[in-house]
Amino acid sequence: MTLDGQQPEAIAAAVDALAAGRLVGLPTETVYGLAADAGKDSAVRAIFAAKGRPADHPLIVHVASADGVAAFAAEVPPFAQRLIDAFWPGPLTLILPRRPGVADAAAGGHATIGLRCPSHPVAHALLSAAAARGIAGLAAPSANRFGRISPTTAAHVAAEFGAELLVLDGGACAVGIESTIIDCTRGAPVLLRPGQLPRARIEQVAGTRMLSKEELSAPDPQAPGTLSAHYAPRAKLRLMNARELRTALELLGAEAKNIAVWARTPLHSESRQLVLRRMPDDADAAAQQLFAVLRGFDEAQVKLIWVEAVPDDGAWDGVRDRLARAAASA
Ligand code: TXA
Ligand code: MG
Repeated sequence: MTLDGQQPEAIAAAVDALAAGRLVGLPTETVYGLAADAGKDSAVRAIFAAKGRPADHPLIVHVASADGVAAFAAEVPPFAQRLIDAFWPGPLTLILPRRPGVADAAAGGHATIGLRCPSHPVAHALLSAAAARGIAGLAAPSANRFGRISPTTAAHVAAEFGAELLVLDGGACAVGIESTIIDCTRGAPVLLRPGQLPRARIEQVAGTRMLSKEELSAPDPQAPGTLSAHYAPRAKLRLMNARELRTALELLGAEAKNIAVWARTPLHSESRQLVLRRMPDDADAAAQQLFAVLRGFDEAQVKLIWVEAVPDDGAWDGVRDRLARAAASA
């Protein structure tokens, strides 16, 4: 059942469901989450079961404000506190040392916890109402089945999990790809997953250079959002440059079918059966559309998705990361 998240009754119904140990589809500014009371291991295990996600892949815990951090984190390094002050509420997740004994299932057995305070007004309303009922945080991975495309509308969530799930409709997500994840447990910030926050701004606020995963001497245990194959559409996705795309479409001519193309470069095809969509020139706009475009291509039942490779520019890091992993699943 999908309810308008702006209605106070919908928030009240969602808090009741969470308090009863049930799951709720939650809009955030990045993507929709599948939420449960982070303090209730049985409810959190239902998330893993619904998604088909391995139990040792940790979930992000969402809090109503920076005040919620102390309930889950054992300590906050000064650079992490500066990131919280600058970017929360917003699309930033911090990995921090976990307070022993809290949110065991959400943490997937790890000694750390991922925390994020979303800025979406419906998420904020739900988290505040839940906090008032003694629920300190909501564990919520993206509301898609394991390995598949993340949802950016309430309808996407309903399509993944069926009508029994209570989903709060908060409209289309403004950011469109998942939060930037920074590991703050290693003395210096380490980027685990790029999002739409610019690296330069993060480093300026942190006051130090951000390391990449590849620079770690002891690599992180594998985490699902960081698996090389993820975000898989049903069709095979291939990254191509503008010249390759033009040549391929020219060669196929009117024969091109069961193919969808997402490109910034204007392209022409003689085929009427080609699904052609224009990728925005702006990275933020492209991120906002990315997952909905891929879902749309799957709905059109194409067999191949050709995507124009994105510019080699920091603003595109998040989109490039998601596309590379969608292509790796093909
Ligand atoms: O924008 C987002 O972050 C969305 C919305 C719903 O908030 N959530 C999201 O969750 O993308 P999920 O579960 O699809 O991805 C969470 C990522 C995974 O790669 C997971 O391994 C990583 O966060 N993660 C969570 N806790 C972690 C921890 N303690 N240590 C390392 N990685 C962690
Ligand atoms: Mg996910």
